[in-house]
Amino acid sequence: MGTSISTLHKNNNKIPLTETDDTCHLETSKEDENSASRSDVREYVGTRKLDKKVKCTLSLDNDEADRQTMQHFIYRHLWEGNFSAPVNEILTDGARILDVGCGSGTFLLDMATEFPNSHFIGIDVSSNFPKEIKPANLDFFQSDILEGLPFRDGLFDFVYIRFMEFDIKKDDWPKIFLEVARVLKPGGYIEIMEKNYTLINEPPSSTIIRERFYKFMKEKYRVEHDLGNTIDQMKKSLNFTDIQHEARELPVGSWGGNLGKGVETTYHWHIMSLRKLLFSQDISDEEFKKEVDNCMADLDKYKPREISYRYWAKKVQNN
Ligand SMILES: C[S@@+](CC[C@H](N)C(=O)[O-])C[C@H]1O[C@@H](n2cnc3c(N)ncnc32)[C@H](O)[C@@H]1O
Repeated sequence: MGTSISTLHKNNNKIPLTETDDTCHLETSKEDENSASRSDVREYVGTRKLDKKVKCTLSLDNDEADRQTMQHFIYRHLWEGNFSAPVNEILTDGARILDVGCGSGTFLLDMATEFPNSHFIGIDVSSNFPKEIKPANLDFFQSDILEGLPFRDGLFDFVYIRFMEFDIKKDDWPKIFLEVARVLKPGGYIEIMEKNYTLINEPPSSTIIRERFYKFMKEKYRVEHDLGNTIDQMKKSLNFTDIQHEARELPVGSWGGNLGKGVETTYHWHIMSLRKLLFSQDISDEEFKKEVDNCMADLDKYKPREISYRYWAKKVQNN
């Protein structure tokens, strides 16, 4: 590996753009530098807060970070590992890894500990990631991939993207794949993980909340969950080859034992996290609570299952 990104970041907030000495200045979050500006960018709603500057569907707080953390370990268990691309060997030897839309950063915190010889970077348009307490081989930056990644060409061996379908407009995926291909080394890997929000055996009470959410996202942000389109865009980009995928199922509800109970908890938190969005569509607190309670009670009755997917591909050697 080349220059230590971690050291550079701590000293200067600079990331090497080339293997030599070119650097790129990265703005840290203004909010980090001046906590007094918080009230300007965050909107407090009850105990949950939403970021007004960034288009983010989820609340940005400890509850959401906890949900993402628990969800991470459920999927790691289900998939018997954190990734499916054949990168174990290079990560063990020492590689550079980028997580786009890293959220609370749990995937990277876990990976950085497992692979101490590798260097991990997480970027997210919001700054819900750890600022101080993190392994030395891990850095986070607030950055919007749609404005271009602040890294030089061919810097990374592996780029990971998980659960961003509801954050990216269909038309923006080609731009993302172009940018990911740019920062990947030839022969490097991209991996995308997603899930179906429509459950198998979905209870009608869940359908009501999910459809309300889909409608809101489409009308407000023009985003729709369409993994088929995303993967088509990845294929069309021509930068990737050997595209492979796998799907696995999770039980949702205590009918599925401890795993199902864990999924039920994250499902419940997820719905609560969307409360502000759903509430803003004129659902009263009481109605919302009733719908959520019905939803949870129906899980053991209908025994729904959730499918998650991993797609991974190699960047072409020459293009
Ligand atoms: C549903 S969360 C997933 C977080 C994490 N990948 C995980 O698996 O837990 C989606 C994340 O993408 C981030 N995001 C949305 N649009 C983005 C963009 N244009 N550039 C960078 N991050 C973005 C959001 O702020 C959010 O943290």
